[in-house]
Amino acid sequence: MNPDRKPLIAANWKMHKTPVEAIAFMERLQKETGPLDDREVLVAPPFTAIQALGNILRQKGYSLGAQNCHWEEKGAYTGEISTPMLKDLGCSYVIVGHSERRQLFGETDQTVRLKTAAVIKAGMTPVVCLGEVLEEREQGRTFEVIDKQLKGALQGFSAEQMSGVVIAYEPVWAIGTGRTATPEQAQEVHAHIRGTISSFFSTAIEKTVRILYGGSVKPSNVDALMAQPDIDGALVGGASLEVGSFASLIHFNV
Ligand code: PGA
Repeated sequence: MNPDRKPLIAANWKMHKTPVEAIAFMERLQKETGPLDDREVLVAPPFTAIQALGNILRQKGYSLGAQNCHWEEKGAYTGEISTPMLKDLGCSYVIVGHSERRQLFGETDQTVRLKTAAVIKAGMTPVVCLGEVLEEREQGRTFEVIDKQLKGALQGFSAEQMSGVVIAYEPVWAIGTGRTATPEQAQEVHAHIRGTISSFFSTAIEKTVRILYGGSVKPSNVDALMAQPDIDGALVGGASLEVGSFASLIHFNV
């Protein structure tokens, strides 16, 4: 991490927890965590628990997010949720382009781009997810894949739009597998992402944009990851579902 960028620990609960379970989790979490002044904590529950968590998170200084959105503000899109709807429920973040959405639900760089623009337009912060699959890493194509995803999702945005974007580097081979990128592997890609952003935009943005690492982050590896200069936080799936492990992640030490 870098003292100029506030670290962000984000929970992606995926398709876990009913509203009742989500509230019980947060009540217990708040008893186990201290003040959050020097770090930001984001919880992205399923859509159905967003409203129930809104008040409780706000009172305690946590941020609320969603895991997906549609790019249109309204219309005949059965089953979809728009960014103004999420904003209205108190969300300040939306995760966009998670690899599960890319692999299982046909998300492309083009839809990631549309959704990212919609999130920014609604006054929220997109968390844009990128990452290579194992085969691409083994072929030495990681940077090429990352650059294509970055370009597809973000090139052409104005510097002002870009100033509100968070990026999450999530190597697909590390998600939910227990196999984490080493801190050095993650740092290498984060530094590369920062460099690519600087070539698209300006060095001012390169210095302020937060880049999270995701993929089997847990209490035993969070400190080493967060000690890397270009890792500004974590996007956490499995280890965010248990109060004890998420509390430890929030209290990472560098
Ligand atoms: P994981 O998931 O922490 O369970 O690997 C991370 C993510 O999918 O964002």
